[in-house]
Amino acid sequence: MQLSIQHKQQASSKYQIFLFNKTCLDSFNLEIQEQISKSEEPFITYLSPNQKTCYVDLGEKSDSLSLEKMRKIGFDVLKQIKDKKTTLVSIHLTKDSKQEFAFLEGFILSAYSFEKYKSEKTPNIEIELISSTQPTYFEELKNTTSAVFSTRDLVNEPQSTLNSTAFKNEIARLFENQNNVSCTVLDKKQIEALHMSGLLAVNAASDHPPYFVICEYKPQTFNNSKPVVLVGKGVVYDTGGLSIKPTQNSMDIMKCDMAGAAAVIGALLAVTSNQLPLHVITLIPITDNWIGSKSFAPGDVLKMANGKTVEVMDTDAEGRLILADALIYAQKFNPELVIDLATLTGSAVRAIGQEGIVYMGNTSKTTKETLEQSGNNCYERLVEFPLWEEYFEQIKSSIADIKNLGGPTAGAITAGKFLEQFIDYNWLHLDIAGPAFISTTDSYRGKEATGVGVRLLYDFLKGYNS
Ligand code: BES
Ligand code: ZN
Ligand code: ZN
Repeated sequence: MQLSIQHKQQASSKYQIFLFNKTCLDSFNLEIQEQISKSEEPFITYLSPNQKTCYVDLGEKSDSLSLEKMRKIGFDVLKQIKDKKTTLVSIHLTKDSKQEFAFLEGFILSAYSFEKYKSEKTPNIEIELISSTQPTYFEELKNTTSAVFSTRDLVNEPQSTLNSTAFKNEIARLFENQNNVSCTVLDKKQIEALHMSGLLAVNAASDHPPYFVICEYKPQTFNNSKPVVLVGKGVVYDTGGLSIKPTQNSMDIMKCDMAGAAAVIGALLAVTSNQLPLHVITLIPITDNWIGSKSFAPGDVLKMANGKTVEVMDTDAEGRLILADALIYAQKFNPELVIDLATLTGSAVRAIGQEGIVYMGNTSKTTKETLEQSGNNCYERLVEFPLWEEYFEQIKSSIADIKNLGGPTAGAITAGKFLEQFIDYNWLHLDIAGPAFISTTDSYRGKEATGVGVRLLYDFLKGYNS
């Protein structure tokens, strides 16, 4: 699927969508005005008898739920168009508003499909946005939806093609044409020199080398005195290692285990393409978690770069090991804030399912509220879990400082508690295991890779220090 979005003053498609608000109906003919004004419910679409014209009531409310309804209407309208096999569609805008943006966002995000391996491809869709002047949000809308698509593409790609080497190459390629970004790839020798024991242990049985990718965006002027660092779990495939995973609904979806890394990359793409005035760094440890005679094993003890020792009780709890290396490395930058994103635990999925992100951290209440507000704005909602000291008991080891496995309950929290041992700065941990990759279509989020985290981080960073 290819999507083109253009701004035009005149419509050229036979398929027309008119966005309206009941307060400004004057431009429509009387018959339609009558039909529209009879309706009491907002958010209704009116189809003309020839089924080629569609009227969308944007409503007047711009609370989080109303905007989410608009995105879903965007999905519904696009579905009609797809069913009709129309490839060119003209959308008549009313005025810049949050509702209009939400409708278009839902509409555009719904146009995504991952068809690289399909013999039959769906036709490309051309969208014309019709208004006398280009809407202020035009470039931002194009850039952020395109960033979500890049993230979805990365996550949907199988491990056979997106191995560690392909992944780090793909990251470099994505930022090639972005201004003020530099990407540095650390190879195995450099990773060894830095004593990234988690990444090396997880990578031990792999045919593909580990990488540690650092991308830095530093525009000419920026609002933060110290950088914001985004960390993403980049496990291109998680077999579980010797603590092997079962196939169904588990290992079979584990190409998604780099969704944290992909989200962070997508967020940085959105930030760079929109040239936000912020100094942002992304850190991405990359490897698969394979099985073989060189595998690390339950019972092993790792000495991490900050001196802490970790007893490996379960090789399937690999994400926290490679994230620990990245969190230690983040200290080098004297960060103002570090946010890590990871498909970290099945426990987070069991707790809240695909509807939201489980998060925890040590930042101020204000920062947490701001992040939650961003979650509501783009409907990638977050729920905070506690990091109470009592949970630490579960990750104490009898032979090392800590172990990488907690008890039978509160798994998302004990994973967070593990990560907390490697930070000495403001930090937020987002467990996206639930919403990152879903098995049934959920409106404009689609099926499989959703790109969760991209719009959330972009919204958060857009408001950061401004
Ligand atoms: N990659 C998985 C977590 C996961 C689960 C991601 C579902 C996406 C969807 C992670 O590495 C893992 O295996 N976690 C274990 C940890 C346990 C062994 C402590 C889990 O949650 O079962
Ligand atoms: Zn695992
Ligand atoms: Zn994993």
